[in-house]
Amino acid sequence: MIAANWKMNTTPSEAQTLVSQLLPALCDITGVEVLLCPPFISTVLVTELIKNSSVRLGAQNTYFEDKGAFTGEISPVMLAGMCQYVLLGHSERRGLFGESNQIVNRKIKAAVKHALNPVLCVGESLEENDAGRTDDVLGAQLRQSLEGISIAEAQGLVVAYEPIWAIGTGRAASGAQANVTIGMLRSTLAGIFDEATAASVRILYGGSANGANIAEFVSQPEIDGALVGGASLKSDEFISMVKQASTAKG
Ligand code: PGA
Repeated sequence: MIAANWKMNTTPSEAQTLVSQLLPALCDITGVEVLLCPPFISTVLVTELIKNSSVRLGAQNTYFEDKGAFTGEISPVMLAGMCQYVLLGHSERRGLFGESNQIVNRKIKAAVKHALNPVLCVGESLEENDAGRTDDVLGAQLRQSLEGISIAEAQGLVVAYEPIWAIGTGRAASGAQANVTIGMLRSTLAGIFDEATAASVRILYGGSANGANIAEFVSQPEIDGALVGGASLKSDEFISMVKQASTAKG
């Protein structure tokens, strides 16, 4: 999977332009699931644009209640039927908007209830990494975010390992480093669920992934793709990343 997280970028007309640049090139690519996560306001528009293609749609967030007096929020009921995936637990949500593992857990439960596949993002800070706490921090994020999720509910789960120090900084992890950490995440998933489920969950790398380093990540045995921020806004670069992933894994 190569997933584009546009974050708070693109007006609806810019989103339309970007999708129209991407679609013709992405149609013929095999062996890679391409996921676009535009801002909420462009969700309906992008659904229409991609409806006859293999490109999938994701939301960047959801609230955990179905409906009600929650001004400014979007519910999984509203997204179901349009989106196949939803990003949850992104470090920007955790860091800027105070989302704890417990909130992420409620959101994951709400997503699976409405047949939205969660893309659960986990990642350690630079201080945590320097202190040798990466495995503990990531293990706790996984276990607490996935508490009470059954093996059946975990079938569509995707995990994204995004070290916070690598997001938007131009300082990506190395492929080898990410491979080791993602292998550890897979073992943790085997403990939470079982070996077969852990083997089937796609685990992506994210954090300054781009056209120049994507091959290094997708050629690693444990890494099943990438979650791409900045580079996903440039159509040529994103197309090149999807093509490189197709060559490596297809
Ligand atoms: P970046 O963002 O590719 O711009 O580092 C990745 C992400 O936050 O998902």
